[in-house]
Amino acid sequence: MPSNRIITIDGPAGSGKSTVAHLLAERLGIDYLDSGAMYRAATLLALKRGIDPADGETLAPVLEEATLRFDWSKSPPPLCLDGEDVSTAIRTMEFSSQVSEVARQGVIREVLVRQQQRIASEHPHLVTEGRDQGSVVFPDALVHFYLHADPAVRARRRVDQLAGQGIEVQLEEITADIERRDRIDSTRTVGPLVRPEGAVDIDSSSMSIEEVVDVMAGEVESKLSSEEGTSC
Ligand code: CDP
Repeated sequence: MPSNRIITIDGPAGSGKSTVAHLLAERLGIDYLDSGAMYRAATLLALKRGIDPADGETLAPVLEEATLRFDWSKSPPPLCLDGEDVSTAIRTMEFSSQVSEVARQGVIREVLVRQQQRIASEHPHLVTEGRDQGSVVFPDALVHFYLHADPAVRARRRVDQLAGQGIEVQLEEITADIERRDRIDSTRTVGPLVRPEGAVDIDSSSMSIEEVVDVMAGEVESKLSSEEGTSC
């Protein structure tokens, strides 16, 4: 891989980003960063410390002081908050409904964007996924992807994914959560969900996970070989 080896995958909730990002990273033999987990952990921190999730001014310095680390010895790397593995706790519906409120605040995004860029300096071969990874955090990445799917397909997938983890949820509840987060994430003023300029657009509505990973790996390979062709 050349010096610029960040691959970003952005898109709305339930488009399959986490699964394909992890599989793509494995296929390429590089690390995987789940930036959404960091916003979820910030929300958990607020609730643990009794801070209103909408009060970013109070939460930001507490977040900066907290120890938020991925355990890079495992794949996918679990996220630890002050020494505790919070990977499962942050996936509950309680967090999904509040995390977009936390993530819409510029003071919080500043802290986490800085941490994501530091992670990339320590893990320079990275597939990273979220909402602003291509547009704000890593605009010079090797390849940007924008992964999306019909809202009904995304809701169904999320229900199945949670059922696989033993979490029973109603389709209507998930549909409402996805619609609400889509709306907040794409209309906020700082780091909104957008299709990054020049991104490869993938509609995964009728594609399997493997097909999406194949398309992405093909794009990365062709980008790498076109860069090899121009260097001397
Ligand atoms: O897995 P899912 O797509 O449902 O969500 P996630 O990636 O875990 O992200 C949860 C929430 O964090 C999103 O709805 C956004 O509000 C926020 N987020 C963000 O603002 N910026 C990112 N780079 C990643 C997530």
